[in-house]
Amino acid sequence: MNDLKNIVLGVTGSIAAHKAIDLASLLTKFNCGVNVILSADAEEFVKPLPFETLTRRPVVRSLYDRGEAPVLHINIADEADMLLIAPATANTIAKLAYGLADDPLSCTALALKSETPVLIAPAMNGKMWNHPATRSNVSILSNRGVEFIGPDEGMLSCGYEGIGRIWPVEGISERALQVLNCL
Ligand SMILES: Cc1cc2nc3c(=O)[nH]c(=O)nc-3n(C[C@H](O)[C@H](O)[C@H](O)COP(=O)(O)O)c2cc1C
Repeated sequence: MNDLKNIVLGVTGSIAAHKAIDLASLLTKFNCGVNVILSADAEEFVKPLPFETLTRRPVVRSLYDRGEAPVLHINIADEADMLLIAPATANTIAKLAYGLADDPLSCTALALKSETPVLIAPAMNGKMWNHPATRSNVSILSNRGVEFIGPDEGMLSCGYEGIGRIWPVEGISERALQVLNCL
């Protein structure tokens, strides 16, 4: 069996946040330790309990959460083999593009080792995805080596049809495990 890989799973405030529970479950079946970071807005959609039960690790919800390490987000970034954000909102994508650091997820993203892969599975309304601001933020991150998985097309929860659905979680987990050489 491969060595345990540490995946930081960032979950942000999208209606698709509940799908991250299945994603966390899939990843833990492949000898991956999963550290979940929930944005404050994600907690409007999902609670820490299912993630903590599935990953057997505490969920990070605040910059002021304390683990064993004096500064938790630095420790999580140091130990990460991958940062996977799924679902990723337009807001979080913009924050990462511009290097904002005002919550545990954005601070962890900035503190990663340069070689740590970052995968982003966006989910949002198609107009938000196609807006020039988001297009530009995606291109900034892509040029920096960030890999985008999706979004998919189909019926959106906001009632529109088109691009913006989160990529199927099986596909997200498969790609993450491929990048980590776990398959
Ligand atoms: C019901 C509802 C659904 C939302 N779904 C999305 C979404 O799928 N994608 C997105 O980019 N923003 C969505 N938003 C807006 C985000 O929650 C908002 O931009 C928030 O600030 C994101 O913060 P975060 O990136 O820190 O999680 C939604 C808001 C509401 C009220």
